[in-house]
Amino acid sequence: MSAVTHALALLEMHWNQAMVVPLAKRFEFDPQRFSRFHLTLGLLLVDFSKQLVEDDTLRLLADLARAAELEEQRAAMFAGQAVNTSEGRPALHVALRAGPDADYRVDGRNVVADVQAVLKQMADFAGGVRSGAIAGAGGAFTDVLHLGIGGSDLGPAMAVRALSPCHDGPRVHFVANVDGTALRDTLAGLDPRRTLVLVASKTFTTVETMTNAAAARAWLKAGAGEKAVAGQMAAISVAAGRVAAFGIAPERTFAFWDWVGGRFSLWSAIGLPIMMAVGPDRFAQLLAGGREMDEHFRTAPLRRNIPVVLGLIDVFNHVLVGLATRAVVPYDQRLERFPAFLQQLEMESNGKRVTLDGQPAGTSGVVVFGEPGTNAQHAFFQLLHQGVDVVPVDFLVAANADIDTAEARHQQALLIANCFAQGEALMRGRSLDDIRAAMAEAGAAGDEIDRLAPHRVLPGNRPSTTMLYPRLDPHMLGMLIALHEHRVFVQAAVLGLNPFDQWGVEFGKSLAAGLLPLVEGKAAVAGRDSSTTGLVEAMRAMRTP
Ligand code: F6P
Repeated sequence: MSAVTHALALLEMHWNQAMVVPLAKRFEFDPQRFSRFHLTLGLLLVDFSKQLVEDDTLRLLADLARAAELEEQRAAMFAGQAVNTSEGRPALHVALRAGPDADYRVDGRNVVADVQAVLKQMADFAGGVRSGAIAGAGGAFTDVLHLGIGGSDLGPAMAVRALSPCHDGPRVHFVANVDGTALRDTLAGLDPRRTLVLVASKTFTTVETMTNAAAARAWLKAGAGEKAVAGQMAAISVAAGRVAAFGIAPERTFAFWDWVGGRFSLWSAIGLPIMMAVGPDRFAQLLAGGREMDEHFRTAPLRRNIPVVLGLIDVFNHVLVGLATRAVVPYDQRLERFPAFLQQLEMESNGKRVTLDGQPAGTSGVVVFGEPGTNAQHAFFQLLHQGVDVVPVDFLVAANADIDTAEARHQQALLIANCFAQGEALMRGRSLDDIRAAMAEAGAAGDEIDRLAPHRVLPGNRPSTTMLYPRLDPHMLGMLIALHEHRVFVQAAVLGLNPFDQWGVEFGKSLAAGLLPLVEGKAAVAGRDSSTTGLVEAMRAMRTP
């Protein structure tokens, strides 16, 4: 029996005993439960006391982490080793937010100076655009259009939205989808003589981004003239040669490196639109928040380490308790894109069917979904409260509103009350006896009580975690993002997965390329399954010639 199997067997024995005590009872038995099961880092508080864990659970989970060599895997990642084994690459996103004196090495070479040089290039360019010193054909840039998809879109789009109170630069827009509607709708509101177009693609081959880049270039040319195009486009990529072939000059090209994974890249030049929106100083605060979380993740003991504890609870909920989904519900409108960002971070990272050594994986990552609260309460919370399948929930909430008016304070109080109430309701539930008593007190007849009371029961015992912070400033946002990056890494390390590749997505891309000539009627439909053939033929019949 391997050390991991042994640790899992011990956890299973423990869970079989512990599961009989519902969460509500655990709170009743132990008034100190919150004190024992929350952690803080700086201004961030993470309450996991409403998870189905005890001290023994956390001790056994830490044993599991040690058996899976989490600490060694973490050290390998920080040391720049090729932890992305299927692509032979390091995953050194921590170097992107390191201070100038740090020492992060790839193939024995410290990469921090390269990182700092690109940050300086970004700050000079963003500073020039923001001040108007770098301008378009029609004057200072009023708008920045960022074209990218997946990791080259979701991170910066999420962060730009999250930092809206700090916006003091040009307006920033994001277009990812190859659906032409996305680009057309966005361009409709923009002046081609005062719009800067950023083309963000690690590979500079992604068909969605390259198609949108070509369309945006044509739009600039038509609206601002051929000569203006070079001055109104910039690129963010690892592939300098492909950028040059596209026609963007080296001084307008912002590099990053193949040791930065797409979904971990918002700290790199991919974050240029964030810097355009909030300025280099606030971007530096975002990096500092990420750095604080890195230091904590690298050094804090397992039991007091926030990404470790949350990642281990994720594994526990999935592998031991059997819960295969997780809802992320920010009670923070500015984090409305956070669930979408997390979907890529978690599901592209840990949606894997084999372990690092190519053997079948017992378990992969869970399905993550979410929406801001309170909207989510009026959408999918019914299932969370009473559905047969239990869904663990992560809540995120700020103690303070962005502005300090009486109305904003009241709205924020309502928001917070709703957030805390959901966690309490999920944990406590409402018993049949309680409901029957309340209905009787309200004067309901006996047969009515019999008929209706079962519909009103909430079983409770449903786990959640709450992340609470004073306000969502750039530093806190950096902490939250880095926390989730490391949490995903912890899940992968314990499950034995490679969180840094994404071969499944590649296959779909290549099939789409093969289907394009069929869709366009340039090739005959042969050798395909009957569904694909039937769909192509039906589509051709529907499509206007
Ligand atoms: O969706 C697959 C993927 O490779 C992501 O991992 C990546 O973030 C995205 O495509 C975009 O890739 P690129 O930055 O190379 O255009």
